[in-house]
Amino acid sequence: MILVLVGPPGAGKGTQAKLLCDRYGIPQISTGDMLRAAKRAGTLEKRYLDIMDSGGLLPDEAVIGLIARRTVEPDCSRGFLLDGFPRTVPQAEALDQLLASQGGKRIDAVIQLDVPRSLLEERLIHRRTDKGSGQIYHLVYNPPPPGAELEHRADDRPEAVGMRLDAYEAMTAALLPFYEEKKLLLRVDGVGKPEEVTQRVLSVLGRPSSGGE
Ligand code: AP5
Repeated sequence: MILVLVGPPGAGKGTQAKLLCDRYGIPQISTGDMLRAAKRAGTLEKRYLDIMDSGGLLPDEAVIGLIARRTVEPDCSRGFLLDGFPRTVPQAEALDQLLASQGGKRIDAVIQLDVPRSLLEERLIHRRTDKGSGQIYHLVYNPPPPGAELEHRADDRPEAVGMRLDAYEAMTAALLPFYEEKKLLLRVDGVGKPEEVTQRVLSVLGRPSSGGE
């Protein structure tokens, strides 16, 4: 199964990706996580680091290369869930070509998480991530346990958050119609408890809400 999760920053893509990947037994492929791992390892080019921290989008070719290498790894043979990729039409076209070249694979569904902008800002500014496990917390809705070693993302500062939301609106305006035309786009209300949102996703996918694959 090949799933794509789209939605603005803070819509809950990372949170839902983890729940859905556990459910389907497929790996989560997050370009944001891959880029942050490269940043921690000191292998991310300075020009890309600056773009990320300020809330802008990297050039298409930088992220397409990451996906091309990751999707041929053995754990992707039964499918995968893409989180944060593609974000633009050129990325979506490159993904189609890549999948076609991997034995004629195709996307099963593109799930769009809808959340109003006022809630997104609030979610992002209060997000913290466990440095070791990558577990995502919210200081109010899902507080971390005492003593957790937490990371506050550089692009979750209020000044970068506004730019990320603007960049999402500008650059993905054409992406959603692209998938709508292919009849792959499934819209899900992303407001509510994470488990409730997961149930809505499973329901639009037409899958049973519990049990095996
Ligand atoms: P990326 O890591 O993909 O960030 P993003 O799209 O901005 O999304 P976020 O990770 O901020 O939010 P999310 O939707 O995953 O929400 P989360 O589950 O954490 O990209 C980062 C950067 O990398 C980009 O800005 C760009 O520079 C670069 N990049 C990455 N991919 C790229 C690409 N394809 N092309 C070009 N550049 C690229 O939840 C957020 C908060 O809300 C958390 O605190 C969580 O606990 C809380 N929350 C989640 N769900 C709920 C709920 N239902 N109710 C209440 N709170 C909730």
